[in-house]
Amino acid sequence: MSCPIQVLLIDSNPSEAAGLRDKLAVSKRATFAIQIVSTLSQALALLEDTRFEAMLVDLATPDAEWITMLSNLQCRAPESSIIAMSGDEDETKALEVVRAGAQDYLLKERLTTVALERILLYCIERQRARTRAALHSSVSQVLATSQSLAETETAILRVLCGFLEFDYGEFWRLDRAAGKLVHHQSWHVPSRDVGALSAAAHAMQFTKGKGLAGRVWATGTAAWVPDLSQDPELRSARVLIEGGFKSAFALPITLESETLGVMEFFGRKSQEADDELLRVTVTIGSQVGQFLARKVTEEEKQRLTNERLLILDSASEGIYGIDLRGCLTFINRSAARMFQRTQEETQGQQSHELFHHTRPDGARYPVEECPVHRVLDQGQLFRSDEECFWRKDGSQFAVEYSCFPMFEGEKISGAVVCFNDITERRRMEVELRHAQKLEAVGSLAAGIAHEINTPIQFVGDNTRFLRNAFRDLAQLLACYERLYGHAEQGTVPAGLLYEVKAGREKADWEYLQVEVPKALDQALDGVNRVANIVRAMKDFSHVDRRAEKAAADLNKAIESTLIVARNELKYVADVQTDFGAIPPVLCHLGDLNQVFLNLLINAAHAIGDVVKDSTQKGHITVRTRLVGDCVEISISDTGTGIPEAIRTKVFDPFFTTKGVGKGTGQGLALARVIVVEKHGGTLTFDTELGKGTTFHVRLPLAGALEPREALAT
Ligand SMILES: Nc1ncnc2c1ncn2[C@@H]1O[C@H](COP(=O)(O)OP(=O)(O)OP(=O)(O)O)[C@@H](O)[C@H]1O
Ligand SMILES: [Mg+2]
Repeated sequence: MSCPIQVLLIDSNPSEAAGLRDKLAVSKRATFAIQIVSTLSQALALLEDTRFEAMLVDLATPDAEWITMLSNLQCRAPESSIIAMSGDEDETKALEVVRAGAQDYLLKERLTTVALERILLYCIERQRARTRAALHSSVSQVLATSQSLAETETAILRVLCGFLEFDYGEFWRLDRAAGKLVHHQSWHVPSRDVGALSAAAHAMQFTKGKGLAGRVWATGTAAWVPDLSQDPELRSARVLIEGGFKSAFALPITLESETLGVMEFFGRKSQEADDELLRVTVTIGSQVGQFLARKVTEEEKQRLTNERLLILDSASEGIYGIDLRGCLTFINRSAARMFQRTQEETQGQQSHELFHHTRPDGARYPVEECPVHRVLDQGQLFRSDEECFWRKDGSQFAVEYSCFPMFEGEKISGAVVCFNDITERRRMEVELRHAQKLEAVGSLAAGIAHEINTPIQFVGDNTRFLRNAFRDLAQLLACYERLYGHAEQGTVPAGLLYEVKAGREKADWEYLQVEVPKALDQALDGVNRVANIVRAMKDFSHVDRRAEKAAADLNKAIESTLIVARNELKYVADVQTDFGAIPPVLCHLGDLNQVFLNLLINAAHAIGDVVKDSTQKGHITVRTRLVGDCVEISISDTGTGIPEAIRTKVFDPFFTTKGVGKGTGQGLALARVIVVEKHGGTLTFDTELGKGTTFHVRLPLAGALEPREALAT
């Protein structure tokens, strides 16, 4: 059954008013709830409390001019239809009355039930249609123009309060996780004080079915409460009534069949449920619901974007993104700082032109050859720590960077470059290498000094022996000189013969005859040994200043290294060499000597750990062979072997099991860089705990391409 239509009848003639009421009472098309007043002031007082859909106004009401009356009524109840009645059949006046806001002008004596009923219903329908259209247009305008969710919610409350003639509205949003309706926004007409009500709302939450909002959530349909005092279940009904509120209305905010929230309205007029308005508000509820869902998604997206930007900006690594053309799509704060540019000025610029336009050697190169652009073509990750990026002021800095392809589905959509300025690291590496070199030179020098000391000592001993022998022989020769002088004159004194004999005995000529040549040989041998060591040192410290590799005899190189390392090895191990016939290898010999030395010293240390303080010695074997188009150098020891747990770590930089001062953990890391990266070879090992270890260095005869050469091809 449809609700009765609220009609206010303003007529100072009681019998005519009763007549009109009786006419409407028998209407078959609608039910009218009619209230009668006789003056404008009574009407205005009643409009304070009650909402009427239509007003039948007798223009002859005594307390006001008709024109004043119409404007007052319109002002107080703008959504209500006004139908003027008069006893004058005056067309001009009728027109003025309609112009002044009345919907129609009726002659009282001609009014039949049917005519009155039809005119009223048509006016009301027209007014409703107007209200509906205006309401939709206002809501649409709010949804189209509001910037934020909060602004939208408040504006919708304001618009609906205006149209529905309510004074106060609240916006409740469903908190899915908590399973409750949570207060979001309130709005009230400026003339109303809703302090207590609004404060209470902030602290409130509704579960499903509880309170008016909870009931609307549960049923998914709008609900009117025409008289708050009749609904004790309603939240804080007392507060509401004390606040001067009489009626309430709530509508669900929906997205398809789902309820996203509820809007509640409170008014000081008693209002009957209005089916038509209910229908209209349902549409508005779903319109707001769609907007809400879209806005929540947008705000969530914006939040995620902001969060991503915040993460990017708080990273100390430089990070930037490029599209398929290589143009910058974003750049984080660290990257902008390193490039000395602002985030804004780089937007949309070509990254290659801006800061990545040279090869590792500083030569400019076109964008088509840039490895970052290759990532855009091929979709494969690229890393490098050999290039440099350029600052705005024209200076460059060394970088380590990774370029990751980005995909949209199967397709490459761009790339992200993450980089670090490694200038400081490079400087420290150089310093460290320098310090280590000095340390290594110091310890090698000590060993070599020891090696040279032995031959030098016996060169010295023999030379001293020769000096004494020469002194004795010189004295003997002086005796013989004198003997010769006397013999020439034919008189040899017996004493002189005796002196010669004694001199011969003293010089021990027989002994010197045997020993002097030996001493000379030994001294020469010592000199040769020293010369050998010096030569080996020269070979070992072979500094290849040319960037290109040169062909070298690795057997000879190993021999030199063994001489240089002799002092480190000889106390713990006997060294055997098993050199195969190998052709020259194209290599950086100075670097390879370092590799052999590191492997030999590691072998000596491992054997040292086995033989400890005993007088026993282990064995080191160095073997070279030609294997296909590679040379393989194997260095075996009878040391401790490498425990399973550290086998994967021994090549890591700074991994060591040795005590401070004995190892820095860089020997194998360096060896691997030299063998694998510089020579395109392999460095592997076989090991057995308690038995020993063999390291295998395999080097291609032709040498590998330098990274720079590889890049250019
Ligand atoms: N022949 C070997 N036998 C047993 N363990 C070895 C052998 N070679 C290397 N290792 C193990 O690998 C670790 C790393 O070796 P690496 O040469 O890189 O560093 P280090 O010898 O400890 O120090 P550094 O060479 O810098 O003076 C060693 O500490 C050792 O534990
Ligand atoms: Mg080592």
